[in-house]
Amino acid sequence: MYGMVNKAIEDLVVKNFGPEKWSAIKEKAGVDVDVFLSNEGYPDKVTYDLVGAASEVLGMSARDILIAFGEHWVLHTARQGYGSMLEANGRTLPEFLLNLPSFHSRVAMIFPDLQPPRFSCTDVKDGEMMLHYHSHRPGLTDFVVGLLQGLGKMFGTPVEIAVAELKSEGADHDVFQVRWSQAAPA
Ligand code: HEM
Repeated sequence: MYGMVNKAIEDLVVKNFGPEKWSAIKEKAGVDVDVFLSNEGYPDKVTYDLVGAASEVLGMSARDILIAFGEHWVLHTARQGYGSMLEANGRTLPEFLLNLPSFHSRVAMIFPDLQPPRFSCTDVKDGEMMLHYHSHRPGLTDFVVGLLQGLGKMFGTPVEIAVAELKSEGADHDVFQVRWSQAAPA
């Protein structure tokens, strides 16, 4: 994955737990990289090893780390570096989710070697939809939950996410039931 992913994990850890913990996590993961370059590709293993080591060093489950990382990705990483792209993708949570299927094709204009996830929306109703997530990468279901929670916070829209189907349990791909209520008045 592009270095910006590993950089974002570093940012999350350093902001919340300090630079010493980040050094300990890199050492435990056996990752010998001083500075991750956003535009450079790194093996996916580096990212998985960092999450595994963070779980051990911080005494948190990998699930909680991936959820926190998903929220951080939306609320800090994406907002700071790519705010206009986020804004262009929708003015409300449901609008943003309906446009999610084409979102990473715009990201791929900046990151040409991107291997993006694929999303689609079905059963779209007032306040509810099924969001389908396809990826060749295993183990990122909780990252998606965190991303969706982050989007809810970004739009000030209370959101509930329930996992309806899991690839890790034999389904074709992960499916989330996403329910939202009216955005809080600004
Ligand atoms: C401007 C905002 C965003 C940027 C710049 C961005 C960029 C990226 C990049 C660079 C990767 C790594 C993939 C690779 O290197 O091959 C990635 C992965 C991913 N992105 Fe985004 N992304 C953004 C927003 C989002 C949003 C809003 C969602 C969903 C709600 C999302 C879902 C994912 C997922 C699930 C992955 C993990 C890869 C996988 O599942 O295979 N991203 N994204």
